[in-house]
Amino acid sequence: MARIFDVAVIGAGAAGMMCGLVAGKRGRRVLLLDHAGTPGEKIRISGGGRCNFTNLHAGPKNFLSANPHFAKSALARFTSADFVAMVDRHGIAWHEKTLGQLFCDDSAKDIIRMLLDEMRAADVELRLGVEISAVEKGEGGFRLQTTDGEIRAASVVIATGGKSIPKMGATGFAYRVAADFELKVTETRPGLVPLTLDPALLAELAPLAGVSVDAEVRHGKTSFREALLFTHRGLSGPAILQISSYWREGDEITLALEPDVDFAALLKAAKRENGRQAVQTVLARHLPKRLAQYVVERLAVDRPLADLSDKVLEALAAFLHGWAIKPAGSEGYRTAEVTLGGIDTAELDSRTMMAKRVQGLYFVGECVDVTGWLGGYNFQWAWASGHAAGESV
Ligand code: FDA
Repeated sequence: MARIFDVAVIGAGAAGMMCGLVAGKRGRRVLLLDHAGTPGEKIRISGGGRCNFTNLHAGPKNFLSANPHFAKSALARFTSADFVAMVDRHGIAWHEKTLGQLFCDDSAKDIIRMLLDEMRAADVELRLGVEISAVEKGEGGFRLQTTDGEIRAASVVIATGGKSIPKMGATGFAYRVAADFELKVTETRPGLVPLTLDPALLAELAPLAGVSVDAEVRHGKTSFREALLFTHRGLSGPAILQISSYWREGDEITLALEPDVDFAALLKAAKRENGRQAVQTVLARHLPKRLAQYVVERLAVDRPLADLSDKVLEALAAFLHGWAIKPAGSEGYRTAEVTLGGIDTAELDSRTMMAKRVQGLYFVGECVDVTGWLGGYNFQWAWASGHAAGESV
């Protein structure tokens, strides 16, 4: 016998749990399904195990989408302050790390526990390890075919995330459901992902693996100022992850290393003071030693300052603040924190997240074409969109 619910939410991640608990609190009979054996696995591993659960400055400008206005409504109706209030109610200690990024003091598991407690209080039924083979719409609602039998629900919320980290159970399920209901999906690609280099450049930069430096990384008109990390596979660190969401195959990015340092003035002054100093010695006061060495070798200025004209020093400074690199690719979904693109926002009502053409079918979280910057924005979108749907189902 099929079991009947008001709402079936598929995906017990950040967005699905938020949606379930909000709907449950409104008195809806909610079933939350997941194929994984544990809920909230991405929350558990996020933020290095401490979950960067929101950002104080989260607003529409921090998100990429074909329609930059789409996220406004949900973000305005469930803000980072609303999520912090929930965290505080549960006595979870947190701190601001940098740039408005809020992390748990102890463990990301505190956030999962909070969501599970809230769901329990709202009588949400959670069923794990359930595979869903079909979502069908018929008279009076939806039928789900699952390994746990047939389930009926008046509304269905798809909260199955994107394609990132398939090892953790990411499936692209949401895009298949969208296709079944003839809803458009925008091009999907890995976001917040390390960038790779062609073999020649990778070999040249190999001695820098592990070096981290403050940098402004630019792609066209977009730039991010955060740490940049050279790795044995290419470029990583927050500044690179951020720009990766904007970067496209074949494009160049520009690195400005230690952007606050006026290298031209610094080198010229050092030359006047003591021309016998090596360029590398001066640079190494502001850059990691291995990076300073690489730069002087690359530009063939591995000499005392007195041997170099001001013009050469200016060219060196220009390189340090305008190092153009053409990445070969990205590490792909294997390591990407998010999936860019997804369910076309033109198909959804921005206030409720319901498909405009399929009454009762909702999409929330990462599967929608709304992708945040690094820094707690993606969870804020998951909470806000899950909340919007939870209020409507
Ligand atoms: P999410 O992926 O969380 O949940 C989807 C759920 O659906 C999963 O439980 C999955 O098992 C289930 N599912 C998938 N397919 C299914 C199917 N076919 N049937 C049934 N269930 C299915 N963001 C941030 O703001 N701060 C941070 O600190 C981090 N850190 C971070 C680290 C790492 C390593 C990654 C990979 C990602 C982050 N993120 C992040 C991004 C963040 O984790 C992500 O944006 C949200 O988890 C998205 O929430 P959703 O609920 O939409 O999907």
